[in-house]
Amino acid sequence: MRVGVLTGGGDCPGLNAVIRAVVRKGIPEYGYSFVGFRDGWRGPLEGLTMTLDIPAVRGLLPRGGTILGSSRTNPFALDDGVDRIRKTLTDRGIEALVAIGGEDTLGVAAKLAEEGVHVVGVPKTIDNDLSGTDYTFGFDTAVSIATEAIDRLHTTAESHHRALIVEVMGRHAGWIALHSGMAGGANAILLPEVEFDIDQVCKWVESRFRSDYAPIIVVSEGAKPKGGDEALVSGATDAFGHVRLGGIGDWLAREIESRTGKEARTTVLGHVQRGGTPTARDRWLATRFGLHAIESVHDEKWGQMVALRGTDIVTCPLSEATGTLKTVDPGLYAEAEVFFG
Ligand code: F6P
Repeated sequence: MRVGVLTGGGDCPGLNAVIRAVVRKGIPEYGYSFVGFRDGWRGPLEGLTMTLDIPAVRGLLPRGGTILGSSRTNPFALDDGVDRIRKTLTDRGIEALVAIGGEDTLGVAAKLAEEGVHVVGVPKTIDNDLSGTDYTFGFDTAVSIATEAIDRLHTTAESHHRALIVEVMGRHAGWIALHSGMAGGANAILLPEVEFDIDQVCKWVESRFRSDYAPIIVVSEGAKPKGGDEALVSGATDAFGHVRLGGIGDWLAREIESRTGKEARTTVLGHVQRGGTPTARDRWLATRFGLHAIESVHDEKWGQMVALRGTDIVTCPLSEATGTLKTVDPGLYAEAEVFFG
């Protein structure tokens, strides 16, 4: 059988480890051949391919990004998108697809599966907000990078008696903020799931200064103040149709300075969180996902996604894993609150 592989959506450390595992098991064990589709769903739409054989996946474990490239192209936004994908698959003798992606990419995969396309999904996102799986790879790397940044910011915050704000990724879910904030000893963690009270944040800042330490606040890019400025939180759509968030970290620094009279600075970690080599845990999870994904192709589990439940890799329907994001449970957030202020 000939199998197509693609990576879609925002890139994420560990994507190459999935590709490697799929190929390294699929060729010797099942006798499959592979075609790499470039740039997410744009690949099968436009027939953009690359060779995917054993030499092509050599040395990939520590490599960040994706050798296949990625995009946020959605074939369902085009009238003839599904027909074009079918034609590419038929013309090139491709019988199955492994789609590696987050909510949007796997949402497309779920709809294609309903249309009869043979597709198996692999969940990825640094945000860890995909339903159906306990963890996604890329998350551990992002949390490690954010935690290291927080560790470093503690010392400069204390030297200058400043409040330092660290803005991390997470438009809809605060997993990165919660995990890195707890690991780095943040004095406040602000998530998209719970609107925050700026007066309360300032009280935490002041109480931290009173105990002669400098406060660190970790904020998800999608966090919103209670009754907040709509323009700030909704952002604007850029030329590529992506929502630009309003810079909640900068807004917090301004508010903290004007309300407490203390100096504040913001560090926006941005795409640093997505770049570079994956942690050992992410390589391990991505590799296991890849091995189970190609096994699922062999077992013809079309329309299914591989997922981590506890320590087991299972499969679940793509339609169940997409549509509703996995957000931070209020109980988990309450655990972190013990350390605020
Ligand atoms: O991968 C998910 C994510 O990292 C979000 O947390 C972030 O808002 C978004 O991607 C940024 O996407 P882009 O790279 O398209 O600006």
